[in-house]
Amino acid sequence: DLAQDLAGRHVVVSAGGTREPLDPVRFLGNRSSGKQGYALARCAAARGARVTLVAANAALPDPAGVDVVPVGTAVQLREAVLKAAADADAVVMAAAVADFRPETYAAGKIKKKDGEEPAPIALVRNPDILAEIAGERPRPGQVIVGFAAETDAVLANGRAKLARKGCDLLVVNEVGERKTFGAEENEAVVLGADGSETPVPHGPKEALADTVWDLVARRLV
Ligand code: PMT
Repeated sequence: DLAQDLAGRHVVVSAGGTREPLDPVRFLGNRSSGKQGYALARCAAARGARVTLVAANAALPDPAGVDVVPVGTAVQLREAVLKAAADADAVVMAAAVADFRPETYAAGKIKKKDGEEPAPIALVRNPDILAEIAGERPRPGQVIVGFAAETDAVLANGRAKLARKGCDLLVVNEVGERKTFGAEENEAVVLGADGSETPVPHGPKEALADTVWDLVARRLV
């Protein structure tokens, strides 16, 4: 039996990948399945926490005993995470959030016209939810965890990202077209704002999730 070390705590987890619509039939998206975020939610619930799971486009069954809030876009994910974070002890951002969205949404399907060059897609910046929450700390003493999906210079990029985002822990994992995204397993290094580095060997996404909660539990006041 796992210790109920998160009993009496409220934790917020984001999972999945945002989709930024271009028109009623198309979107800009990413390859996140939601599996890592759902594993985090399941493990927190097993350790006694009340869990709010903000799920972006994940085709996975709702974990038992978890409050699931489905969202589509980064803007919707921000709304849902900020709302749930108001009384949360910890927020873990495992969702793959689009940094940019199309500037305009076409109410009707965008048509291709014969002989015309394809039109470029203008993008605007999305809010950085992790940086916002880490900066504002809606609740004092709250522990904020980010993920970093990198394809190269993984650790160097991770350290820079931890500093930039201002979170307490950053889970750095390597991704590729078929690496980590959608897989049952992951491997990572969890960087702490205190300079700590916790390597997590290749294994089930639940194992990484439990290590993240170990590190979070130690930091809760
Ligand atoms: O869902 P799976 O198939 O299981 O795959 C898991 C995963 C690879 C998606 C997951 O382990 C992971 O790495 N998630 C973070 C993906 C990501 O968006 O990384 P990033 O390096 O682009 O963003 C860094 C952090 O900032 C993330 O915590 C992200 O949630 C957050 N962010 C990013 C952009 C933005 N506008 N707002 C944010 O809050």
